Amino acid sequence: MPVSVLIGIQWGDEGKGKIIDVLTENIDMVVRFQGGNNAGHTVEIGSEKYVLHLVPSGIFRKDIICVIGNGLVVDPVSLMEEMKELAGKGIDISNIQLSSKAHLVMAYHKIADASREAGAGAGKLIGTTKRGIGPTYSAKADRTGIRACEILKPQKFEKIFREQAISWNAHFKASGVECVDIESEWKKLFEAVAYLTPHIKDTVLTVNEAVRQGKNILFEGAQGALLDIDHGTYPFVTSSNTTAGGACTGSGIPPKAIGCTYGVMKAYTTRVGEGPFPTELHGEEGETMRKIGREFGATTGRPRRCGWFDAILCRYSCMVNGVDKLTITKLDVLDTYPELKICTAYELNGTLIKNMPLDPGDLSIVKPVYETMPGWMASTAEARSFNELPENARKYLLRIASLSEAEIGIVSVGPRRDQTFKI
Ligand code: IMP
Repeated sequence: MPVSVLIGIQWGDEGKGKIIDVLTENIDMVVRFQGGNNAGHTVEIGSEKYVLHLVPSGIFRKDIICVIGNGLVVDPVSLMEEMKELAGKGIDISNIQLSSKAHLVMAYHKIADASREAGAGAGKLIGTTKRGIGPTYSAKADRTGIRACEILKPQKFEKIFREQAISWNAHFKASGVECVDIESEWKKLFEAVAYLTPHIKDTVLTVNEAVRQGKNILFEGAQGALLDIDHGTYPFVTSSNTTAGGACTGSGIPPKAIGCTYGVMKAYTTRVGEGPFPTELHGEEGETMRKIGREFGATTGRPRRCGWFDAILCRYSCMVNGVDKLTITKLDVLDTYPELKICTAYELNGTLIKNMPLDPGDLSIVKPVYETMPGWMASTAEARSFNELPENARKYLLRIASLSEAEIGIVSVGPRRDQTFKI
């Protein structure tokens, strides 16, 4: 399929970066279409480990065009730093294109994000990455955002930045929050403006031309479907459409262009930040899974909450995204469990339900109903085909895929490129 979309099926951190790197072997273009540097896509190549935040995961393969689409919110200073770091490691960054329509995250958006989190009442805390994502998307919807095309007119850009910074500072001052240091921020922005200018393009044209030419294009989703602003566990979500439909609005391609949708999910569940998580393991059990799975956020380093596989939520996500091929990651993390639990229903106020509740907020009060499967108690890390997996691992994979109502396409049994196989 020339045009594919890859989406996280759970609450992010499903291992999308690695899978994209594996899939990009025959790819001409990788397109990010939503989110910002709240994402942290980890790619391990040989002994090197890279964490990408804004740069698409195709950057490690030669000649791939890497597009940062209009649907993103981009911190220009962070993007410059990320690109410089990659270039410093000998990676060719000349193929990075930044959409002229992408919105820019300014210092005041980050302060607004952090101060809201700090000041929120206990029940309202979202646990954001504090990268300014929410306030920048708010400004976009409010039609006061600054777009990347402004970078091409530095004088106008400086004027808008200063006006907005002064206005935000008045608000910060009144709320007792630390203000933006306008001069030092502008100095950093000025450098980023010069650095990014050659990369700013009309990426809608770039991507559509590639579609017309039948090029192989991969759309790289960030976060996960359960963090989608419309379909996720609102209000504990991010501020963009993380589901497959976002690939169209966030890049400018028509829906009919999409051929295949990959849904990436872990063989268990994790979540960073606040919000309901029915199958969460607490105390020692949660700690054990976190340790085995090395579950610490790639962007913030925060410990991830861990729990059993939730088939209700994954089925819902697969439906919303129209998943053609499931990619199941981190199977190896379950190697030492004698028994595995899968959530197949919820009990909500005494009633058994098999779908997402009408109010996703009720996920915080549902009781998960589990079925139990025997573990395999053997290493899967060296398996390179489905048949090389222990029988109980094969049965577990087939069960979670069937409950999710999607077919397995890829399995990953470790962080390296070679620890992956197609089915
Ligand atoms: P924000 O995107 O920084 O506004 O954070 C909103 C919610 O999404 C918080 O619960 C974050 O922990 C979560 N989140 C944002 N980006 C990621 C990600 O890349 N992986 C996992 N969770 C994320």
